[in-house]
Amino acid sequence: MTKCVAFHSYKGGTGKSTISSNLSATLARRGFTAVLLDLDVYAPSLQDYFQWQPKKSINDYLFENANVDEVIQDLTGVLNKFPPNDGQPADSKGKLLVGFSSTSKDEIYKLDGAVRQEGSKIQLLRKFLMLREEIVSRYNADFIIIDTSPGIRYWSINSLAIADTILLSLKLDGIDLKGTRLLAKEIYESLTKLGTKSYLLLNRAAGYCLPPSMAGENTASTQELYNTTIGNQSTVISKLNEDIGMDTILSIPCYCDIQFDSNEFLTALKYPDHPFAAKIALLIDKLKEI
Ligand SMILES: Nc1ncnc2c1ncn2[C@@H]1O[C@H](COP(=O)(O)OP(=O)(O)OP(=O)(O)O)[C@@H](O)[C@H]1O
Ligand SMILES: [Mg+2]
Repeated sequence: MTKCVAFHSYKGGTGKSTISSNLSATLARRGFTAVLLDLDVYAPSLQDYFQWQPKKSINDYLFENANVDEVIQDLTGVLNKFPPNDGQPADSKGKLLVGFSSTSKDEIYKLDGAVRQEGSKIQLLRKFLMLREEIVSRYNADFIIIDTSPGIRYWSINSLAIADTILLSLKLDGIDLKGTRLLAKEIYESLTKLGTKSYLLLNRAAGYCLPPSMAGENTASTQELYNTTIGNQSTVISKLNEDIGMDTILSIPCYCDIQFDSNEFLTALKYPDHPFAAKIALLIDKLKEI
């Protein structure tokens, strides 16, 4: 059965795009069929992770200018650019399929304008639901991973509504916490009643940052440093869970080399020994259990 996981947050820059793209690529490497959708329609960024210029976008599908096969592009070949993990070749059954949002200003305005009119809004919502159905039936997807816009935005809420698992990422600063509480109360509570599972995902939490020398090579000492900061401070996490009313699925440190790199890339594939790759692997294990 297809598992549909949406990444959301109150504030921007909490790592939704970084984690969703690394997660999808790693899933494909492990033999799963992962379909990654960029639903951050106001500021799409997934092309940067895959260095890919799509010919057709999700916008085209929603306005009936393209069919699903034109929009969901097979990027499995991109994975071959990266070194195999532990000297093992990637599982050849795996597939990485990606649906991008348009980065054209006119297309973004067009979509934004259409959702302000009741008639076209319903039409677009129907198409969106159809997109999920088509992905499930045509590609036999194991996972649909959705990257959304932060905050309470039309396409983010639609994405949450079609997901069966929501990962709400946060950095643990004051504004973030206040907003996350609000999202939990206003949106997640009602989705949970309908059977959606939602979890907090701590990423780049304020208060620690691991230098590249430690993050890249010495996993044991990196872990030790992390443990003395926030990583294993179970009291911090359990207080947070109680405060927001959700469990934390995973806590990922802030790695300086990821933070300060001028390009966005698939760290988990490019540096399979990086502790960030181990965190992505752990996230996969947890998602498989849910
Ligand atoms: N664990 C991490 N450690 C260090 N830097 C990180 C980490 N996760 C993400 N980043 C960096 O933080 C920045 C923001 O990440 P990203 O773009 O994935 O966030 P986002 O939630 O998708 O943002 P937006 O809401 O603007 O779409 C990027 O430069 C990314 O490389
Ligand atoms: Mg993003």
